[in-house]
This record gives sequence, structure tokens and C-alpha cells, in this order.
Amino acid sequence: MKTLFIITGVNRGLGEAIYNEITQLNAVVFAISRRFNKQQATNKNTIHWEKDLTNLQEKELDKYLKSIYSKYETIVYINNAATINPIGEVGSFTEKDIKNIYSLNTITPALLSNHIVKNTKENQKVVFLNISSGAAKRPIAGWSLYNSTKAANEMFYNCINNKNITVLNINPGVIDTGMQDIIRNSDMPDVSNFIKLQKENKLQDPKTAAIKILNELYENSHIIRHTR
Ligand SMILES: NC(=O)c1ccc[n+]([C@@H]2O[C@H](COP(=O)([O-])OP(=O)(O)OC[C@H]3O[C@@H](n4cnc5c(N)ncnc54)[C@H](OP(=O)(O)O)[C@@H]3O)[C@@H](O)[C@H]2O)c1
Repeated sequence: MKTLFIITGVNRGLGEAIYNEITQLNAVVFAISRRFNKQQATNKNTIHWEKDLTNLQEKELDKYLKSIYSKYETIVYINNAATINPIGEVGSFTEKDIKNIYSLNTITPALLSNHIVKNTKENQKVVFLNISSGAAKRPIAGWSLYNSTKAANEMFYNCINNKNITVLNINPGVIDTGMQDIIRNSDMPDVSNFIKLQKENKLQDPKTAAIKILNELYENSHIIRHTR
């Protein structure tokens, strides 16, 4: 069973950990990232696309991805790349801030998902694994932009009604990544709770979170786990 994993934002954080787990199992990964570390850049099972995902164009997807889908029976798209910036009250954002976060977090996954379904056939299976967040459901002061992008993504995927598509919205819980660093250094009202989470060692390491997410993927879709 040939499966292609498309993953966004693989150079650090949770995306890097998911990428590491998947490539260790010799699966083929189409990685879309602004940067790649040395190991990733030389990985033979990785197709690389260096791309800033705040300005994705459908014609670029046609150029880099369209001809690849047909080689695989299953396409798994892991929507990982996201930003929490800017944190702040409404009224404090610039036009650029607003457009960037919606483009990266929400327009990009909608464009990519739409492109995958548009360009795959009835006999191919598609899995959308959306890395979501508790923020998709719970309002947090200062996180208007981030929470609304995460909520929009969940609803986008939950409205899909197609027997060839499996949707998984997974909230990974709090993870020790750059995103938590940004939160701890922000002046949001609830910042002390996030500082406390780190002090009390309550952040998961990215590898543990990645393994949990991939276990959920294999349990809830027809994909056969690759073996080493
Ligand atoms: N950390 C948590 O506690 C937590 C909790 C719940 C959900 N999540 C979710 O988990 C996912 C991964 O987050 P993380 O914690 O690993 O965050 P992170 O450490 O900040 O990493 C974010 C990833 O997104 C990429 N990215 C950012 N801006 C980009 C752009 N313009 N174009 C392309 N790629 C870009 C980054 O690459 P660059 O190095 O190029 O910026 C990086 O690979 C996100 O969807 C997040 O919402 C995280």
C-alpha cells in the first residue's frame, strides 16, 4: 500500500518530531517548510519544497504536487505549520499580522486540502490529519487570531462528507516547542499558567506528542503502519 505523507513545517517543534517518526519508518514524505535541517535535506525518502506558507498559490501546488498524487494509493496530509503570533487584544494588530496568520494557519490548509481532493481519483484514499488545539474550542484572552484560525480549521474539516476522506482533528495538548516559548514571553493575561506548566514539567516533549498523534492516525484510518 503506497502512502504519501504531506507535512508542513518540519524543521522544528512538533512537525520535526512527526517528520522524524515517519521517515524512520521509510515512508515517503513531501515536506513543505521554510527551512530544512541537514538531515532532512539529504533524506532520500523526502521530497522537499522550501516555501513560506503565508503566500501559497494554487498554481504552485499544480507545479509541485499535481503530478505526484497519482503515484500513491493514499495521501495523508498533516496540517502542522502554524503561528500563534501576534498575541494581543483586538485593536493592537496590524493589517499584515492579520493577513499572515489567517493565510498560514487557515487559508493554506484549505488550499492544500482542496487541491488534494480536486486532483485525486475515486480509487485513492485521502486522510486529513489536522493538528488542532484546545484553543479551537476555548476562548483565551489575547488569542483572538490564533483561536479563530484553529476553530475555522476544525469546522472546515468537520464539514467534509466524502467516503474516500478520513478526517482527524487532533488536539495534541501542550508541547515543549518554540510556540510555548512565545506564549511564556507574551503579556497575555493568563501567562503565569503557561510559565507554571513549564516549571512543573507539564509540557510534553515533541517526540512523545508525535508518537501519540501517529498512533491515533493508525488507529483511526485504514493506513497500514510502515515497518522499519
Ligand atoms: N506547542 C504547543 O503547546 C501546541 C499545543 C496545541 C497545538 N499545537 C499545534 O502544533 C502545531 C505545531 O506547533 P509547534 O508547537 O511545533 O510550533 P513551533 O515550534 O512554533 O513550529 C511551527 C512550525 O511552523 C512553521 N512555520 C511558521 N511560519 C511559517 C511560514 N510562514 N511558512 C512555513 N512554515 C512556517 C515553522 O517553521 P519556521 O522555522 O520556518 O518558522 C515551524 O516548523 C501547530 O499547528 C500548533 O498550533 C501546539
